[in-house]
Amino acid sequence: MSNKHIVIIPGDGIGVEITAAALNVAKAAADKCGFSFSYEIRQAGGAALDKFGVPLPEATIAACRQADGVLLGAVGGPEWDHVAPELRAEKAILGLRKELGLYANLRPIKVFPALAGQSPLKPELVSSVDILIVRELNGGIYYGDKKEAAIIDGVEKASDTEVYSRPEIERIVRMACRAAAGRRGRVMSVDKANVLAASRLWRKVAVEVAQEFPQIELTHMYVDNCAMQLVLNPGSFDVLVTSNLFGDILSDEAAVLSGSIGLLPSASLGDGTGLYEPIHGSAPDIAGKGIANPLGTILSAAMLFRYSLGNSQAASMMEQAVEQVLADGYRTQDIYQQAFTKVSTEAMGQQVIARLG
Ligand code: NAD
Ligand code: IPM
Ligand code: MN
Repeated sequence: MSNKHIVIIPGDGIGVEITAAALNVAKAAADKCGFSFSYEIRQAGGAALDKFGVPLPEATIAACRQADGVLLGAVGGPEWDHVAPELRAEKAILGLRKELGLYANLRPIKVFPALAGQSPLKPELVSSVDILIVRELNGGIYYGDKKEAAIIDGVEKASDTEVYSRPEIERIVRMACRAAAGRRGRVMSVDKANVLAASRLWRKVAVEVAQEFPQIELTHMYVDNCAMQLVLNPGSFDVLVTSNLFGDILSDEAAVLSGSIGLLPSASLGDGTGLYEPIHGSAPDIAGKGIANPLGTILSAAMLFRYSLGNSQAASMMEQAVEQVLADGYRTQDIYQQAFTKVSTEAMGQQVIARLG
């Protein structure tokens, strides 16, 4: 028994379907382990804007602060693309990351053996992929000064500012080095230090922080080259640490290695309650059809159990069941190929449950 409590934020689009499937799996895995948790559903994103007039209600923030962990589906969609910038659905997620002090976003990228043939890249290139992207999540151009479009000196202009401070860089690079110490001991810091001042500080501080970790090998790569190396030689990466914006872009690119973005989980960690979400968005093109892949969300729930609920038994059980379900040939549409068994979002969740433990 435990008194752990989680908040579930379904959000928008496929968020509702995938969190429902993941919650069923989480409940079943907890049952199998004799572990109990309570949960509440809270709103954020476009759904909250429609209901409460704001994308991130105070009540949602308060509930997340008090919880042991938060599982989020996705927010955003074309319905809310034309609202005022401060009311955008995406502001919910940016606000939560800031309110909870979640400065580190861990995005593990692995290739399930059953899906090695699924990637658009050659199986021999992707089968050895095991990358951990450590994305800075509380700073950079996402949170620097911004000016929305306005006429200045007769020309329409808009701007965003990339700012990083030494402490912000230190804590994320430390996190990456600690993670690498439990892996293959290599950290690749990715920046654009040949052009950007913030990247030059990033590189200097990364070198200094790495000296605290003599067992870690730190190397550097420019982000443009990194984008190429991720598809040219993806097996060469261990831990990749980078800024908020570069991490966002490179993780969607790296998702291709695994076969579908619908497979990839993430954990956002820092000072407050941990937040767990798949790396993809609300997928408006397939929302409401019951065909979204819930495995990235189920794997995010597994990370929640491991890092925030202190239950790695349930976490491993969920991860192994996901691997088995793929080995047994079950596929949602995004990873479907002929001769496999095509299943809905909900059915995929049920097949995972059938393989727990
Ligand atoms: P997206 O990740 O929602 O979709 C990109 C493509 O991947 C689409 O073709 C979609 O169908 C597919 N896809 C994504 N998740 C899938 C899944 N689980 N199963 C099967 N296919 C899946 O990116 P987008 O279309 O650029 O963004 C849509 C909305 O989501 C935007 O409003 C964006 O701001 C928002 N968004 C939110 C988050 C988040 O909440 N964490 C992340 C990214 C984008
Ligand atoms: C992600 C998303 C978010 C980001 C958006 C929705 C604000 O793309 O979590 O990857 O850019 O961080
Ligand atoms: Mn993204």
